[in-house]
Amino acid sequence: MQIKRIAILFSGNGSNLEALIVALHNKYFIKAESYVKNADSAADFLISTNLSEFKEITQKEARGVQNTFKVEVVLALSNKADAYGLQRAEKLGVETKILLSKGKERECFDKELVGILKEQNLDLCVLAGFMRILTPIFTQNIKAINIHPSLLPLFKGAHGLVDSYNSSMCFGGVSVHFVSDELDSGEIIAQGILCKNPKEKLESYEKRVHKLEHILYPKAVLSVLASKSF
Ligand code: GRF
Repeated sequence: MQIKRIAILFSGNGSNLEALIVALHNKYFIKAESYVKNADSAADFLISTNLSEFKEITQKEARGVQNTFKVEVVLALSNKADAYGLQRAEKLGVETKILLSKGKERECFDKELVGILKEQNLDLCVLAGFMRILTPIFTQNIKAINIHPSLLPLFKGAHGLVDSYNSSMCFGGVSVHFVSDELDSGEIIAQGILCKNPKEKLESYEKRVHKLEHILYPKAVLSVLASKSF
């Protein structure tokens, strides 16, 4: 059984952080195509919180199925001391760390951050509302993914949600993508679409965006962790 170690980076509220920990931390997964003949979705996973129950359900370990893994959220790291996500992670039993970015040169901060993440021997770094522009020191050393509240490549940047809401388009959405040297521009892993209601207030639209993110992001993390090239 493989253990997949992930760290989650955030700066504030941490609702995605919480959704990720609840859905993934200390849980066992097997790709649907490994146990359901003709499964048509590579992104569907069977989940269990209990190893013996998991083995019983899958009955595959003995037959050498390689596609089972356990996810461990080994670190929740914030660049802000007052990020509410810190409380969420602590409540859910995940180790937290604060690495303050204020007043530091971008490269210095990224170097320190990379050092901390490398020590963790991660399979994947997951950005969830981590409000930092990352330098190549980070992007070229850490395999990371991010969630963005618009249908990329539309509405990149810190105001993606509001720009998407204010646009004349009749739909918006969210995107999960690999982190690359260029902001919000890495390869897209998953997207979800939302119809816009012209009378809907921003707060209500934002709530729907978050709800969609909380469903899409854990699934996208799993699909990356389970992908053969990974
Ligand atoms: C999310 O909307 C995400 O798409 C963006 O930052 C926001 C973080 O929200 N990158 P939360 O801290 O997870 O509640």
